[in-house]
Amino acid sequence: MSPIGIFDSGYGGLTILRTIRQLMPEYDYLYLGDNARAPYGTRSFEVVYEFTLQAVRRLFHEGCQLVILGCNTASAKALRTIQQHDLPGIDATRRVLGIIRPTAECIGTITHTRHVGIFATSGTIRSNTYNLEIAKIYPDIHVTGIACPMWVSLVENAESHSPGADYFVQQKIDEMFTADPLIDAVILGCTHYPLLLEKINRYIPAGVSVIPQGEYVANSLQDYLHRHTGMEHRLTRNGTLRFLTTEQPDQFNENAAVFLDYPVQATRIIL
Ligand code: DGL
Repeated sequence: MSPIGIFDSGYGGLTILRTIRQLMPEYDYLYLGDNARAPYGTRSFEVVYEFTLQAVRRLFHEGCQLVILGCNTASAKALRTIQQHDLPGIDATRRVLGIIRPTAECIGTITHTRHVGIFATSGTIRSNTYNLEIAKIYPDIHVTGIACPMWVSLVENAESHSPGADYFVQQKIDEMFTADPLIDAVILGCTHYPLLLEKINRYIPAGVSVIPQGEYVANSLQDYLHRHTGMEHRLTRNGTLRFLTTEQPDQFNENAAVFLDYPVQATRIIL
């Protein structure tokens, strides 16, 4: 078995798994959520890198040839080092891909004002990765990043639909449009945030596009596999789906069902 591995600090990567699997149901998938150590968004560069590397090694050990970091924080803080420093020593034929580049690529065709906003964790915003990736592709686009540390907690604690969540969502939207009223496209640069979409749409100014990443990441992965047939042939296709978590499986199973709309049975692991 050689499943596609998808990693996140917690449940957020399930929004990525979901859209990838909708597009390519034939592959086998193995999801790993480091729920016991989530959130990553407020952790240091070194810690996010160490935790992410442990997760990647585990997914490799489980037979994954290809691992997607379905987490912006890990993509921002650990991806480059793992690709350049660790992968050659572990197994140069395997691949680890992030989700920031495919998201940055999509923005050029969506914004007309060339003013774009990013909502993400403090770690992702501080890393400046979105600004750098967008500047490489579209140097004319002006980017405003707003860190929303409370949003992940709302989602992880199943409070996305509670009345209290309105306050935190509206607060950050106001902050963004006060900083730059010309923004006409907003990227949800954290895989947890699509769960808050209903509330985000309630407070976002009319005419502004809100962009969850899943669809762009899924299309980009499909394109990658078309271009890298060597990797594509190494992936198995039985349509299976397995879940690993560092927390208690019962808790994972209950919360994951909210993200996926179907029951799951996770296995607990220690990283
Ligand atoms: N879902 C992760 C992301 O996309 C962050 C959640 C966390 O803070 O652990 O950045």
